[in-house]
Amino acid sequence: MNWEPGEAQAGKTYLGRNKHVEAFSNCSQCHAVHKLKVQIQACDGCHQGVKTQEDLKTIRMSTTDYDGDGDTKEGIAGKVGTFQDALYAAMQQYAAKVLKAPIVYETTEHPYSFKDTNGNGKVDPGEAVAENGHDLCPLRLPPSRKREGGRVGTCGCS
Ligand code: HEC
Ligand code: HEC
Repeated sequence: MNWEPGEAQAGKTYLGRNKHVEAFSNCSQCHAVHKLKVQIQACDGCHQGVKTQEDLKTIRMSTTDYDGDGDTKEGIAGKVGTFQDALYAAMQQYAAKVLKAPIVYETTEHPYSFKDTNGNGKVDPGEAVAENGHDLCPLRLPPSRKREGGRVGTCGCS
């Protein structure tokens, strides 16, 4: 089986896309085409007080306390951030403890995932360089991966 990061896996059920209001459901309805910037002036009509890019993080409509911290007013971006942090921590733990190949992630340096050479969970000087790229695709951490001498299959392998 060959799948790309983000691709749905057979046998799993997914929640699907979170639909927004009809007039703002496509990429180009919220983003300025070719610029990527969010057309913030279009949000204010419904999300009051949203004037700047920073304000986007304060948008909150749903009342569900997704992460159970009791805060149902913080921007939905904060909730998403909590899950991003938890996922990263789980990936690091899995890579270190199960795969014996500690991993760190750096958004600005290709290939983004690197060997955590000293196993401290942080990106240290010299770690986020191409030669130190982690040799497994972080989104392909399932335990069925082939292992060779402690190394796990590379990105793109089946
Ligand atoms: C409901 C409005 C909305 C829709 C629809 C939407 N986006 Fe976004 N998008 C946002 C917001 C808000 C952000 C966060 C911007 C920020 O924090 O500055 C964002 C961020 C992004 C970013 C990250 C930009 C960066 O500079 O880091 C990308 C890429 C992106 N969107 C692509 C898309 C694509 C592709 C689609 C269509 C499949 C899409 N967006 C649809 C509102 C939207
Ligand atoms: C016509 C009114 C309207 C406009 C304009 C609008 N929204 Fe929304 N937005 C809603 C409604 C209603 C919801 C809650 C239901 C839903 O998710 O569709 C929502 C939900 C959201 C959420 C999720 C909040 C949560 O708590 O889950 C985000 C993020 C968001 N909108 C961003 C934007 C951005 C960015 C823009 C401007 C590009 C925008 N919206 C423009 C009506 C609007």
